[in-house]
Amino acid sequence: MNRSSTAQAFANIALIKYWGNRQQALRLPANGSISFNLDGLYARTRVQFSSELTQDQLILNGQAQVGAALERVSRFLDAVRTMAGMKERAVVQSENNFPMGAGIASSAAAFAALSLAGSRAAGLTLSEAQLSRLARLGSGSACRSVPGGFVEWQPGTGDADSYAFSIAEPDHWALVDCVAIVASEHKAVGSTQGHALADRSPLQAARVTDAPRRLARCRAAIRLRDFDALAQVVEQDSTLMHAVMMTSTPPLFYWQPTSLILMQLVPTWRAEGLPVCYTLDAGPNVHVFTLAEYADLVCERLQAVPGVRMVLRAGVGGPACWLE
Ligand code: PMV
Repeated sequence: MNRSSTAQAFANIALIKYWGNRQQALRLPANGSISFNLDGLYARTRVQFSSELTQDQLILNGQAQVGAALERVSRFLDAVRTMAGMKERAVVQSENNFPMGAGIASSAAAFAALSLAGSRAAGLTLSEAQLSRLARLGSGSACRSVPGGFVEWQPGTGDADSYAFSIAEPDHWALVDCVAIVASEHKAVGSTQGHALADRSPLQAARVTDAPRRLARCRAAIRLRDFDALAQVVEQDSTLMHAVMMTSTPPLFYWQPTSLILMQLVPTWRAEGLPVCYTLDAGPNVHVFTLAEYADLVCERLQAVPGVRMVLRAGVGGPACWLE
């Protein structure tokens, strides 16, 4: 037997963040989150099951992986094998076209693509919600890279209803993420470890309790295409997550000096009338949102800030898809 499949998924950027799990193993989140897919920033993944293999293999951007990265993918494939009632090992080849481990969710794109490719190669036919649940097992935010456009991950009551779905199509609102890269080294503490520390901050309970309010504001801002309302809730949500990170035991500091310079600069541009706001994930890079017609100007301004190494740009992307 020799079955293969190839799929592609975009990275996503959270407007309302996921930080902390109420159940670690199944990655059931402490709170709901909202994101949009980053058009053009993708992972492409091919999975080939074969009865000749004695163990799983992972080739990431052309390099064979061992250790933690391979174990994580192998555990994920175990879930696929259990669903499909099979034992074959697989070769997984995955490629990203953006820098990994620096605040652009490379694991989200990778595990979303792996869910589609892995399940199809195993002979499974899964619904979008089932694919999103499966992706969640690899990386929580990966469940949001399965549906297209603007996406909400409902925390659910358990494994069966903790998945993401589209709340608006990609063309609903021409938002652009201008990602100011201030460092592209691999981050010191990855998000899987970070989530486990969230409850060790006295601020996490308050952040989680307030999440339904922020989610409602964000949904409304998207529905009404109200940039100012979006800006307020997105920046507050990002800072709340970083406040939790910084006050965990041990503390996690992801900001670098250039991150802070940008966090102070962007609101001054907004005060001048430019539609811009920022958010940061578990890394120092600053995601600056704007509307398509201002994207050239915003990217130019970001590029001119000392300490900004490069600026990536992505509009709102569609769903994960198979490439056969
Ligand atoms: O899916 P993970 O475990 O990589 O966690 C992602 C966490 C953040 O990127 C910081 C926030 C989010 O909602 O994407």
